[in-house]
Amino acid sequence: MVQSMTPTVLRAEATKLAELKLENLPFGKHFTDHMLVADYADGAWGRPAIVPYAPIEVHPSMSALHYGQSIFEGMKAFRHPGGAIHIFRPTENLARFNRSAARMEMPPIPEEIFLGGLRELIRLEAAWVPDYPDHSLYIRPFMFATDHYLGVRPSETYRFMIILCPSGPFFLEPQRIYVEEHYVRAVEGGTGFAKAAGNYGASMHPTALARAKGYDQVLWTDPVEHRYVQEIGMMNVFFRVGGTVVTPSLSEGTILPGVTRSSLITLLHDRGVPVEERRVSMDELLDAYGRGELLEVFGAGTAASVSFIRELAYGDRRMTFEVDGFEWARRLKDSLKGIQQGLQEDRHGWMMPV
Ligand SMILES: Cc1ncc(COP(=O)(O)O)c(C=O)c1O
Repeated sequence: MVQSMTPTVLRAEATKLAELKLENLPFGKHFTDHMLVADYADGAWGRPAIVPYAPIEVHPSMSALHYGQSIFEGMKAFRHPGGAIHIFRPTENLARFNRSAARMEMPPIPEEIFLGGLRELIRLEAAWVPDYPDHSLYIRPFMFATDHYLGVRPSETYRFMIILCPSGPFFLEPQRIYVEEHYVRAVEGGTGFAKAAGNYGASMHPTALARAKGYDQVLWTDPVEHRYVQEIGMMNVFFRVGGTVVTPSLSEGTILPGVTRSSLITLLHDRGVPVEERRVSMDELLDAYGRGELLEVFGAGTAASVSFIRELAYGDRRMTFEVDGFEWARRLKDSLKGIQQGLQEDRHGWMMPV
């Protein structure tokens, strides 16, 4: 008999919504009443369950804690005018999740659990999707190794979970960015393209050092020469050079293939703007800056959508930008927001109704 992958549901006794207003909540602090859980054992995923949001018990020898087989995703659902709830491009996140899983020697998650389970969970939590401008429901799927065993080998058991948090507008002040020339995030053949927890763990120290110097984030560079740019913190990076937009290519496997990145490239193509995905060197950027042609620098990611960069510091050189004049970045941000919030035509079918 084929097992049903429709989640079982155990409802919470009370809702935390009674004590919470969904307006201007800080990111990542307030979680909805329920979560989705599925376990993998004996080579197969079991039936997912939606249960009250609560702490989980883990064994001290749980392998994810020791050897880091742990991956995650991040995406958003929006309430459209009229009340319907739509998720932004979740099939892209599913595909990326399974690429991350393969790199970390973890089992793929079936679409029925990732997307089917997510839609069931959001239907149950519909009241948690904020109905204020620029608000959304942040979705965090994740998977970790659960074997109770200290041997270094791929775990034989895993847990997949989804938790949700309503969040307010994520307005980032224009960022000051430190171009990193010592620490590295990713190398060819490494895990840069995967959303593996360890990538973020390894970024904490260099980022803390950059913060201590007064910067907001680091821009990672290639591990050999520290000349070619990769990405910023939790964002892909774009440069407007004259009438062209340039962004590092995915071909080396060292940057995360952002869903926002791919969406902005499509929106730029829609407008007939040439986009070059290729190696981008700091020398080239400094030259363009010197010629007055480096007109806009911006980051792209789920959390902040499009975020403006006001300074790039590379050794003792500084490039500063007047973000008020960032016409293209602003238009991209507005278009993306319009589509996500159901205020603009969704020509590419990016919004999935729940
Ligand atoms: C390292 C890194 N790069 C880029 C991004 C942007 O990806 P996305 O647009 O899919 O959120 C993220 C955020 O998820 C990230 O963590």
